[in-house]
Amino acid sequence: MSSNAPGAASVKPMVVGNWKMNGLKAALSEALAVDEALAEAGATVGSEVMICPPATLVMVMSELSGKGGMTVGGQDCHTAETGAHTGDVSAEMLADAGATAVILGHSERRADHGETDQLVRQKVVAAHRAGLVAIVCVGETIGQRNAALTLDVVSRQLAGSLPDEATAANTVIAYEPVWAIGTGLTPQVTDVAEVHAMIRSRLRERFGEDGEGMRILYGGSVKPSNAAELMGVDHVNGALVGGASLKAKDFLGIVDVYRQK
Ligand code: PGA
Repeated sequence: MSSNAPGAASVKPMVVGNWKMNGLKAALSEALAVDEALAEAGATVGSEVMICPPATLVMVMSELSGKGGMTVGGQDCHTAETGAHTGDVSAEMLADAGATAVILGHSERRADHGETDQLVRQKVVAAHRAGLVAIVCVGETIGQRNAALTLDVVSRQLAGSLPDEATAANTVIAYEPVWAIGTGLTPQVTDVAEVHAMIRSRLRERFGEDGEGMRILYGGSVKPSNAAELMGVDHVNGALVGGASLKAKDFLGIVDVYRQK
């Protein structure tokens, strides 16, 4: 049995587009093209497909899409539900706007905003409080990889960023080597396999059956030409896609990996 269906045969892969700080209203046509293609493909799609646009587009995107079952997520949230936090968006606001998930602890948030594992964990709690799935990102820098610290770093981020109440239904892990993000570089499949197997065993140790069923996405320079190889690795249950999610054609080329023909 392929371990891409760990334990429970019901683990559905997930392909998530992270638009980052890209996308004006005009870009909605790309998301709509994705949703329409999913509607046409119907039951053959084989994965959950989500786009996480900037917060300004969450509501309109979730209102316009849904025909093909495409879901919409946020890219970050505050820990609090409401309050004096100028410029921030709460998990409840994202849910109210139609999001079903939120990316948390992305390396760009960790680097640009000094987000720690502890803060990420509090944000995961906030996401769960609002009924959102938390997509929790972990990954090593090139310096850490060269110093053979990858497994230690990822394991520490995983332990620190997840609250005890994480379940297979409310939490998704995204392994994203920082040096692979937006660079066109990807790790060797053997390296992806090693990290994903380690993550799976840590999740199992801590969460039991839920750890077995929690989806572990790979992210970092995923594109149509390398998606099949990366998604074929044991314990890779989908992809978190940045640059290649901005154009429907590229994103659908990745979604196609899970298409049941
Ligand atoms: P990339 O970004 O696909 O452009 O490398 C991935 C991510 O940061 O989520």
